[in-house]
Amino acid sequence: MAAFIPVPVFELVVFGASGDLALRKLYPSLFHRFCDGQVEAGSRIIGVARHELSREEFLQNVTNGFVNLAGGDANDPKFKEFLQILDYVAIDATNENADWSAMKALLSDDDSKVRVFYLSTPPAVFGGICRALKAQGIATDKSRVVLEKPLGRDLQSATAIHNAVGEVFSEDRVYRIDHYLGKETVQNLLVLRFANALFEPVWSRNGIDHIEITVAENIGVGSRGEYYDKSGAMRDMVQNHLLQLLCLVAMEPPASMDADAIRTEKIKVLRALDPIGEKEINEMTVRGQYKAGLVEGAAVKSYIEELTKEGAPPATSSTETFVAIKAFVNNWRWAGVPFYLRTGKRLAGRKSEIVVHFRTPPHHLFEGDYTTNKLVMRLQPDEGMEMWLQIKEPGPGGLRVKSVPLDLSYAETFTLRYPDAYERLLMDVVRGNLSLFMRRDEVEAAWVWVDRIINAWESEKVEPHLYAAGSDGPLAADLMMDRDKKSWSAI
Ligand code: BG6
Repeated sequence: MAAFIPVPVFELVVFGASGDLALRKLYPSLFHRFCDGQVEAGSRIIGVARHELSREEFLQNVTNGFVNLAGGDANDPKFKEFLQILDYVAIDATNENADWSAMKALLSDDDSKVRVFYLSTPPAVFGGICRALKAQGIATDKSRVVLEKPLGRDLQSATAIHNAVGEVFSEDRVYRIDHYLGKETVQNLLVLRFANALFEPVWSRNGIDHIEITVAENIGVGSRGEYYDKSGAMRDMVQNHLLQLLCLVAMEPPASMDADAIRTEKIKVLRALDPIGEKEINEMTVRGQYKAGLVEGAAVKSYIEELTKEGAPPATSSTETFVAIKAFVNNWRWAGVPFYLRTGKRLAGRKSEIVVHFRTPPHHLFEGDYTTNKLVMRLQPDEGMEMWLQIKEPGPGGLRVKSVPLDLSYAETFTLRYPDAYERLLMDVVRGNLSLFMRRDEVEAAWVWVDRIINAWESEKVEPHLYAAGSDGPLAADLMMDRDKKSWSAI
């Protein structure tokens, strides 16, 4: 039986109320916590967007999203009950002088209610919304703000966003979401490392040869082409999700589970990342872009075809839909240990995993080739982990060494419903727990490293290598590993 930590009564104002994220993730996640009894009576959710919609029309949008995007059942009586805590306000939220009375009427005067503003809007309007909230006296000294990615497209734009938001909300009230941190298996990285004394003595250059971090997707960019083409895999996935995973794998044990204790250790990893500039760019990074191909037996379009508008001439783009990077963390623990990062769209499958390859035993005692120990942390799907050990293959025929996994599957071991990352993160905002949210300096440190790579790609005119949709990515990524006499785990 799960133990839910009670959260105070809250009012959550969602800007971008009818957007894809809100419909697909936010309301369904809140609904699940509502069903679990964690949303206290008296809590309200207020959707805000520009469109003039009646409350009924808004609730219909939420219902459609719940059914079509989240696989929910609109006839569930609990869902109907949940809808009663939702309201809608149509307003240009960046306009300080607009008529905010409808919103004010919905907010309570009760100071003990936690007030949260969730900005699920393009970052360009974050500053404007915060200023308007302040000017209207709606943002109180205690209220919190949640920022969705992308948090800028480089250090300069990220700093501008943080400054604008910071004029209204102090840092301890800013919740920057990276939804990967809300995933159960990602949080488990901390538990695995710091609740098992077994790993720490070997968790360094002394015991580890190299580490792979893969976030592979089989989906294409679909209808998100316009956003994605300005972003690319580096900004969309590496700057946030992959670097956060790297931090959790490489960080020093924090002194406590206090948010700042954890975040301070993560930032040390980001600052220790070896810069990759023009000189190293071709050796240490690979960009790719998908061509047409077959994904799980179905023919799919190329990235360019997906970008091309109907009836228009073919689009042109050198945006990367795949990135592979060989990174080093320059500190005492990790000097010389390569971290191979890889992410891409339209790959052979959907698979996020971290593979820790341990060193070979110092003395090769047994005959034949045998591999090293390997810890595979399967983040999604098929969540679980495998510890690969060498054993004697039973039976006659001499002493033959065989690699076998000790395999833990979450689905087989736990029967609980698997909560979506947003459920945990939304409740953490209400509880005031910042541990799974990124601090300003953390985001900025990630941009410093990423900007340098993107700038080197531009100045060296590094074009993406084409790869067939449904493959494991471009050949150049395999060659990067080959040069080190290593290979990627299959996707
Ligand atoms: C988002 C990216 O942050 O993460 C998307 O913008 C990507 O491009 C998504 O598809 C992947 O998230 P998940 O939870 O499906 O692995």
